[in-house]
Amino acid sequence: MPDPSLIHMPIHMPIHMIDLIRKKRDRGTLSEAEIGFLVRGAASESIPPEQLSAWLMAAWLNGLQLDEIRALTVAMRDSGAKFDPSRLGKVAVDKHSTGGVGDKTSFLVAPIAAACGVAVPMISGRALGHTGGTLDKLEAIPGYRTALSLDEFEAVLQKCGASIVSQTPALVPADRVLYALRDRTGTVESPGLICASILSKKLAAGLDALVLDVKTGSGAFLRRREDAEYLAALMVATAEAAGTRTVALLTDMGQPLGSAAGNWIELMESVDLMRGQRPESLSKKPGSVTGHDFSRAVNAAKSTRALAPEGEALRPLSPLQQAPTGNEDLRQLSLILAGWMIYLGGQADSPEAGSSRAEQALTNGSALEVFLAMVAAQGGDIAAFDDPEFHKPGATQVVEAWESGYIAAMDTTMLGWAVQRTGAGREKVGLPVDPHAGIVFHARRGAHIEKGQPLATIYATSQALLSEPIALLKQAIAFSDAAPEAVPLVSTVFTQNEAEAFLNRLL
Ligand code: URA
Repeated sequence: MPDPSLIHMPIHMPIHMIDLIRKKRDRGTLSEAEIGFLVRGAASESIPPEQLSAWLMAAWLNGLQLDEIRALTVAMRDSGAKFDPSRLGKVAVDKHSTGGVGDKTSFLVAPIAAACGVAVPMISGRALGHTGGTLDKLEAIPGYRTALSLDEFEAVLQKCGASIVSQTPALVPADRVLYALRDRTGTVESPGLICASILSKKLAAGLDALVLDVKTGSGAFLRRREDAEYLAALMVATAEAAGTRTVALLTDMGQPLGSAAGNWIELMESVDLMRGQRPESLSKKPGSVTGHDFSRAVNAAKSTRALAPEGEALRPLSPLQQAPTGNEDLRQLSLILAGWMIYLGGQADSPEAGSSRAEQALTNGSALEVFLAMVAAQGGDIAAFDDPEFHKPGATQVVEAWESGYIAAMDTTMLGWAVQRTGAGREKVGLPVDPHAGIVFHARRGAHIEKGQPLATIYATSQALLSEPIALLKQAIAFSDAAPEAVPLVSTVFTQNEAEAFLNRLL
């Protein structure tokens, strides 16, 4: 006979990682306690990488339920120390993208929003899959430190209004471990895992508000529009439930954003924009990017006039930036995203008004000032931005168009892999990346170009690393006789109501 006093005692069965792998493999739903166990084990590295990887693959294949995603996000957020931005005396707002090729908007929106009175505590990531990482790009600046202590993070924010740092063993350690494993195990493209990874970092920064840039199209982790919409709704609803005001913009990743994709070359493209350097044709031709058809943010796009006032002499472009079609998409998207940040940060009455303020900060030099102050405060040598000798790739090759016609389509994921294979990305966790590697694209989707015209310049670590990117580039770009349809830069905006209505329709 069992002892009757034991029958009603709560039994705390120990949790075993092998059971959690089998449960997800068999399409089960993990409880909050099980998710907590897994996340604590990832953060403390007490669960071995092979078991975490097996679970990640099961989650990738079988998906995660809404409750699991919420529990994973919160447990990852709570896996380490948190930042308290209340001492900054400003509304704390950030922007995060779901990952793209040539996506360097962080370098623009963080200083722009800070210059407009918003605090921007940004915890970013490294290269993931075919996409580049904000931290890898920043570390191309000699001396720039991304792993700051929380006190140092606060000091930079107090001084400059913006700071871009990495997760550390103290800050969101679970994401540091899981992110690196996902990168190496083909488990990146999962809405639930992306949501938890991004939001854990953003919520640990104690943000008041968040602007999400959810990519869709051939270079996005979730290429199909309906998947990107689900991710946008999921992230907005999850962040709002955790108390952070959040909006998500669905934006085009059907081609690289701007002209450069790599490390140093992306920073230089951003600095050039903040210095007011644009191809002359664009400085006189406002609105030269594809039309936007999204409802509320459309006016913000309309307010993006030419950067330089009429008649003002433009500074000469750096050689990297002399792409004939320029980077108007990058400039416009940055102003739209920054406009939302400024609006949610209480420094403008609407996203459109925020966008106008953002444009002022870009044109009057105040964004550049914040950016340079932030780089210097984090140990970076800002003299490198004025040193034409600094960019020293191991090997350079111009790729010419192999036929004449319109650039009809780009497989931007393949272009992203081409960029990574120049040496700009890493083959194994922890390996360094080549700061000088990457690709500058000289023509954009919809451009008509002649055979023999330069299509891209490849900067690789060595001659041996030129052939794979060239082969990938040739596979990734398709020509046609007719101009392709223009694709809007921003197609949809999800706020809390839209996100919840979207998710309710799925239930
Ligand atoms: N950015 C992140 O931080 N995590 C992801 O999973 C994807 C993009």
